[in-house]
Amino acid sequence: MCGIVGYVGKRPAAPILLDGLGKLEYRGYDSAGIAVCDSGKIQMKKARGRLKVLSELTHDGEIFPGHVGIGHTRWATHGEPSDVNAHPHFNADNSIVVVHNGIIENYLKLKKKLIEKGYKFISDTDTEVIAHLLDYYYHGNPMQAIIKIMHRMEGSYALGILFKDHPEELYAVRKDSPLIVGHTRDGCIIASDVPAVLKYTRDVYFIENEEIVCMRQDSMEFFNVDEEPIEKEPTHIEWDVDAAEKGGYEHFMLKEMYEQPRAITDTFSPRIKGREICIEELAMSDEEILNIKKIMIVACGSAYHAGVTGKYVLEGMARIPVEVDLASEYRYRNPLIEEGTLTIIISQSGETADSLAALRDSRERGAKVLGVVNVVGSSIAREADNVMYTWAGPEIAVATTKAYSCQLIALYLLAMKFAQVRKTISDTELGGYIEDMKRIPDQVEMLLNNKNRIQKFANRYLAARDVFFIGRGIDYAISLEGSLKLKEISYIHSEAYAAGELKHGTISLIEEGTLVAAVLTQENLYKKMISNMVEVRTRGAFVLAVTNEGNHEIRKAADYVIYIPETNQYFTNSLAIIPLQLFAYYISVGKGCDVDKPRNLAKSVTVE
Ligand code: F6R
Repeated sequence: MCGIVGYVGKRPAAPILLDGLGKLEYRGYDSAGIAVCDSGKIQMKKARGRLKVLSELTHDGEIFPGHVGIGHTRWATHGEPSDVNAHPHFNADNSIVVVHNGIIENYLKLKKKLIEKGYKFISDTDTEVIAHLLDYYYHGNPMQAIIKIMHRMEGSYALGILFKDHPEELYAVRKDSPLIVGHTRDGCIIASDVPAVLKYTRDVYFIENEEIVCMRQDSMEFFNVDEEPIEKEPTHIEWDVDAAEKGGYEHFMLKEMYEQPRAITDTFSPRIKGREICIEELAMSDEEILNIKKIMIVACGSAYHAGVTGKYVLEGMARIPVEVDLASEYRYRNPLIEEGTLTIIISQSGETADSLAALRDSRERGAKVLGVVNVVGSSIAREADNVMYTWAGPEIAVATTKAYSCQLIALYLLAMKFAQVRKTISDTELGGYIEDMKRIPDQVEMLLNNKNRIQKFANRYLAARDVFFIGRGIDYAISLEGSLKLKEISYIHSEAYAAGELKHGTISLIEEGTLVAAVLTQENLYKKMISNMVEVRTRGAFVLAVTNEGNHEIRKAADYVIYIPETNQYFTNSLAIIPLQLFAYYISVGKGCDVDKPRNLAKSVTVE
């Protein structure tokens, strides 16, 4: 996730910017840059790679003696990691410079308009649009230009801005991306997160949505979007640096679980235009979509589990046959690829060796390959014919949570798009799915806020030896992911079974007190699932059920029930997985395991 730092004060800005950016390194980044206002000029240096490269280029900041500056670490979203795409971004005559965290959803529309007005673009970023848009609206008054662009931009942003004509001022504004400001002993500092400012101040102002800050060496003024001054109270930060990196959460995994509502919104909102699904990066005409004969989804681990859900959703909504494969199996099984096959490779890192090999194999056999990838510019993103990015931001915890949730959203969007074009659902149905999708972030948040209840339940099972997860249809896919989350971070053996399979062998493992987590979100399968729950319960199992609100019948067959809010039959995974993530997390915490770095595991599996 991008990191922003800005400073105005008595001291040279560049070393403070570099120091602050260093404290934001944990957020993940691929390039970095700084811009400093000095002697009536804005000077800038930026470079792909580690911050060390930028420090060397600027001699630890010494080449820029100015006292006002902005800095940035970039996690690529629009455009691959490169020197040119790195921030800051200038307007044409280098008189305005911007750093940005977030996604401008309507940047293509804005870019087109600016090009028509004669603006030239050198990068692929959405941020360069902001620099030129500011230029377009700037007539000597920075505040008015900022307010104008706020009315034009859709999406999320935290911005740090310098104007050459106002060399003593630093501006900041935000909407849906975090930004804090604080007074230092000799000036003002802005940052996208607390660790970057802790060395300079512990009293920070959290900028609220659509608030603007104008900072000078000795003043800090807050305004709303009507340019009216606002009074704000600082918050005193007690956290140490380690806790601050995790935003006050005990672990990155918990922080990332809490980032899910935002990540989900970022993934769907640029792709929903009114009552239409627009996935520009799919680059497939309606005719090509109509000609898809088969979809093959190939991935590893949790990404594979997202793919299993995708199969149910794509087949159910768009009526296209879907095969799902583990990449490590696919690559050696000599798959049959006929004309009209679309292969979807799902990967958070975009570097998983088996998934990459499957991609190459599939292309060689003549399939069109779509990557559903989180890391921009990664190998899978580069080699796929087309890429649909999940906008989860960097994931630090080894066990995936938010990237998985965004993969589900990407697959739902594809299913909705294909169904829309192939007319396998009506406009009314599509409208309903769009409304349901927009409700997911709040519903996820509500489920996350139920964490204390799940923690209490988890604490009863710290000594569990085996846990079974059962479900049918999409609920089987949820079970696969719930089970993987538990075993990988708590080291408790767990299995996911299609509930109907239990009696073909696995049921012999059920003993007095064995925990069985039953997932029932598919109304048409309630009765079947309840029979399976009774089967294990009569053999001594303790049954935890995750089911839809209103399913009161469940109490007859379950010992403990977690309800998920109402959604349609296809989107239930996005909700049911939240209590299972929390359950795994609290078991791991309770057992004292290394939650963020479980033994024997790596975040990116670049070997076979
Ligand atoms: C589990 C987990 C892994 C990954 C798998 C694929 O929590 O994170 O199972 O899902 O290694 O990784 P990517 O998505 O990077 O290809």
